[in-house]
Amino acid sequence: MIVQKYKDMLSGKSVIRQLSEFATARGAEIGYENVFDYSLGNPSVPVPQEFTDRMIHMLATQEPSVLHGYSPSLGITSVREAIAASLNERFGLPYKAEHIFMASGAAGALAHAFRLVTEPGDEILTFAPFFPEYNPYVNLTGAVLKIVPPNTADFQINFEAFEAMVNEKTMAVLINTPNNPSGIVYSKETIERLADTLRKKSAEFGHDIFIISDEPYREIVFEGVEAPCVSAFYDNTIMCYSFSKSLSLPGERIGYVAINPACKEAATMVNMCGQISRGIGHNCPPSIIQLAVAQVLDKTADLSVYEKNMNLIYDCLMELGFTCVKPGGTFYIFPKALEEDAKVFCEKALKYDLILVPADSFGAPGYFRMAYCIDTEKVVRSLDALRKFVETEYPDQVKKTEEK
Ligand SMILES: Cc1ncc(COP(=O)(O)O)c(C=O)c1O
Repeated sequence: MIVQKYKDMLSGKSVIRQLSEFATARGAEIGYENVFDYSLGNPSVPVPQEFTDRMIHMLATQEPSVLHGYSPSLGITSVREAIAASLNERFGLPYKAEHIFMASGAAGALAHAFRLVTEPGDEILTFAPFFPEYNPYVNLTGAVLKIVPPNTADFQINFEAFEAMVNEKTMAVLINTPNNPSGIVYSKETIERLADTLRKKSAEFGHDIFIISDEPYREIVFEGVEAPCVSAFYDNTIMCYSFSKSLSLPGERIGYVAINPACKEAATMVNMCGQISRGIGHNCPPSIIQLAVAQVLDKTADLSVYEKNMNLIYDCLMELGFTCVKPGGTFYIFPKALEEDAKVFCEKALKYDLILVPADSFGAPGYFRMAYCIDTEKVVRSLDALRKFVETEYPDQVKKTEEK
């Protein structure tokens, strides 16, 4: 018998993927350059040349069995050492190779983190707006994902709602800063308050509550914004990192879990990841990619285009009278729609070949997301379409803005 729960998921496909498929089909009709596709968070800038050069050099000079063989189950030791050293240099924490587990992207890292600290029926809390793939990531482990409602004033944490929701079943809190979809970076004050609350709640319930810190956008932070290192604030932190966005190589599926050395059983937890891998099949990410990223740990793709795009879009949204918290990083922006139902709003935008994603599935109905990892030239052209869309569909909005 085939399993019904996966069959049921077919009718709840990701709205992001559906819109991206729509954009591709529309592109085949009118030319993809004429479709303003803000659906998918697929990096638009090339991988650093140095990464390519190192790959070519390795392919030309190294033993095929080293490059293409299975890696050890926790990852290649020299790679784990290099990652630990790089984290220590940046954040002043005492990581060693024994605290690092190589995983296939953030998704693979998270799959291990959830299983490390939850049993079926336990709860993981996360904060809206959140990455909708957290639902299948968590729920298919048997744990239950609970969503804390958003603080729409600035998209930092809604502590009142959070404190009311933490209970004895809460084993972990999943955070994502810089955040997909809001683009917001949690402040030092937010992370300090979260850590204080969790220390209190862990004592109250008599068990550890972990922070699982999903950090694929750690390197994409804009001018004047600081992204604090979550692990520096809370001992029981499981960092889940991905090179997908920082190096523009999401197809290579590479990232890692870094267990805070201050966790009571940090090295054991890394060994446990090796056992979890055996069950879920996210084991031994490609050896050649592990070796290549270890050589460019201090490099990123040219991420400056994202800030340029963000400023262009944010200024246009402000000119048109949208409500929007200015992103501090990532390649997402998260404005409020001009009518209550963001799905209707985004549906109308399609007439102007603007592909915007309604945020109902991100836990923030009434908002929409734009993933601006596209060429700046296209962003500029899309803003004309955005102006036309607003002027035609929401003439009152234009009047209101002119009166101000
Ligand atoms: C918040 C967040 N977490 C995890 C992931 C998965 O990242 P990866 O492709 O590295 O598995 C993504 C991808 O877009 C993301 O936005």
